[in-house]
Amino acid sequence: MPETKLKSGNAGDDTHLRVMDIDGYIIPTFPFQDHEKHFRSMPGWRAREDDIIISAYPKAGTHWLWEVASMLVRHKAERIPEIKETAMMEGLTEETFDNMSSPRVINTHVYFKYLPKDFFDKKCKILYIIRNPKDIAVSFYNHHRKLLEYEFDGAWEDYLKRFIKGKVDYGSWFDYTLEMEKFMEENQDYPIHVLYYEDMKEDSIKEIKRLAGFLNVEASDELVTQINSLCQFDKMKNEKNSGEDLSEWRDNNPGMYRKGQVADWKNWFTVAQNDMFDSIYKEKMSNSKVQVRFSI
Ligand code: A3P
Repeated sequence: MPETKLKSGNAGDDTHLRVMDIDGYIIPTFPFQDHEKHFRSMPGWRAREDDIIISAYPKAGTHWLWEVASMLVRHKAERIPEIKETAMMEGLTEETFDNMSSPRVINTHVYFKYLPKDFFDKKCKILYIIRNPKDIAVSFYNHHRKLLEYEFDGAWEDYLKRFIKGKVDYGSWFDYTLEMEKFMEENQDYPIHVLYYEDMKEDSIKEIKRLAGFLNVEASDELVTQINSLCQFDKMKNEKNSGEDLSEWRDNNPGMYRKGQVADWKNWFTVAQNDMFDSIYKEKMSNSKVQVRFSI
């Protein structure tokens, strides 16, 4: 198992993240036998035409979108009993994947080249959620500190530099976002639906309706309102946390549903950190058409 302790590479920062290194690509450690073998075999797995893939950089709102999309395809405003991780491609075996019932709403943070090629041959629908990277950095920092598998207890100041360099599982937010943009530009007829976390926060009803349209799900106003209410942050926090394995979390305190807000980064970034981030963002995203909102 190519488990590794990923350093930040920053002077004076000795912290590490315990992760898996697959030929230089970093993913979390999923504790099951032969994980690497399963991961490497994924491009050969068989898709079904009605598979729906949620793709996102970590902490963009994957749990939220997975819950909404899963309710929409079931056509029911009913809590999904499983947690999102049960349908996370890089944490599955082929057998588990094959045994999932249709329509499968799966989710992933990995680049498309690691996924079943059959998804793309069958033109399975993709939902892509984007969130502003300042809030992602804060959310990911808390994720890394709270999930014990990472063995991480670093300071925010060092972490922010680590995040910017992409020395985290799934690599850099910038690389991921630019790669997705490239995919969309090169595959303009591919069915991919883009959502922004900030838009979901601002007007979730509108976004759920837009999503239902893309998924060809006939959703009445009543169904949309009920799904929306079940998927509000507090409700999900109260009702989904019970599915978590508490022993995986620091102090047995699950942290997947942390704050659920836009612009919490303002409570974390110093003025200097913000200036630094803005200038790096400007440089790295100079050729990108992606427009994220850092506040609403
Ligand atoms: P915060 O850490 O900023 O609170 P992911 O699901 O991709 O791991 O993203 C997790 C982030 O989405 C966390 O952000 C989490 O609180 C937030 N989130 C989860 N469910 C949400 C919901 N129903 N509404 C708004 N935000 C939600």
